[in-house]
Amino acid sequence: MNISGHTKVYGVIGNPIEHSFSPFIHNMLAEETGIDMVYTTFHVKEGQLENAVKGLDGLNIQGINVTVPYKLDIMNHMDEVAPMAKNIGAMNTVVRKDDKLVGYNTDAIGLKMSLDKIDVDLKGQSILIIGAGGAARAVAVMCAEAGAKLIAITNRTLEKAEELAEVISDKYDVETVALPLELVKDGEGLLNESLTIAFQTTSVGMSPNVADSPVGGSTFFKNLDVAVDLIYNPGETKFLRNAKESGAKTINGLGMLYYQAVRAFELWNDMTVSDAINEKCYNAFIRKMSPETI
Ligand code: ATR
Repeated sequence: MNISGHTKVYGVIGNPIEHSFSPFIHNMLAEETGIDMVYTTFHVKEGQLENAVKGLDGLNIQGINVTVPYKLDIMNHMDEVAPMAKNIGAMNTVVRKDDKLVGYNTDAIGLKMSLDKIDVDLKGQSILIIGAGGAARAVAVMCAEAGAKLIAITNRTLEKAEELAEVISDKYDVETVALPLELVKDGEGLLNESLTIAFQTTSVGMSPNVADSPVGGSTFFKNLDVAVDLIYNPGETKFLRNAKESGAKTINGLGMLYYQAVRAFELWNDMTVSDAINEKCYNAFIRKMSPETI
């Protein structure tokens, strides 16, 4: 890396932020693409979000990523918010264009890009989403945007699944349904016949609770073609292991983590990262992550 007076500055804001993987990904992409930029973390302490956003103009910072706990609040400080980020109700990327701040959500697109890489097409599919929090909403919007036929949402708290189902069917031309988790968990068979792709968006099964899974009925995984778990630590959750044993294609959250960064990088630099660079950088990212995900 050759930092000079011309080098553009980017970064990620959050609290805490020390453990972010984004600097690794973005600085690697910068090196591979030859773009003169550097990416670092900015620890924005409680109450400092507004000052931090003002600082972008003040310091001529070109763009930032935004992580917990600011993904919702930051929307109030944008000049414009992209429609998809509005529908998700959260954003993770700020692009500074002509001195205007524009907010995007690249998490959902990142997940879509990681599915494209393994040839999973959501168009016309009937999909189950487990969970109804912020991550589930991003997944639901992504599925609706990708042309899913039916989105079923199941959650420990049924009312939240019902609310999310309503939000999505209000905004998109897609059929939605909320299902009690108990029904799904025991795998009555009813679901498994029509729903062939499942997204696991809760924290259940995350390290150290690796023996847990939000579903478990022996018939749940029957007829499941694709199982996606947003968790990446461990790299293979019990949910994914059971799905794989039943013959489903499985994917963890590392692809989403990598490609949300790629999409932000592309927006900032108005370009597309080539397949060859993505392959090289993704493999380096996986190698870097593997001690944490085994
Ligand atoms: P995120 O932004 O990561 O989605 P969130 O908005 O706090 O986080 O949502 C967490 C999701 O995980 C919710 O769907 C939550 O279910 P509830 O709405 O019933 O709380 C789900 N979740 C968390 N712990 C769970 C558990 N032990 N069993 C089942 N679901 C759980």
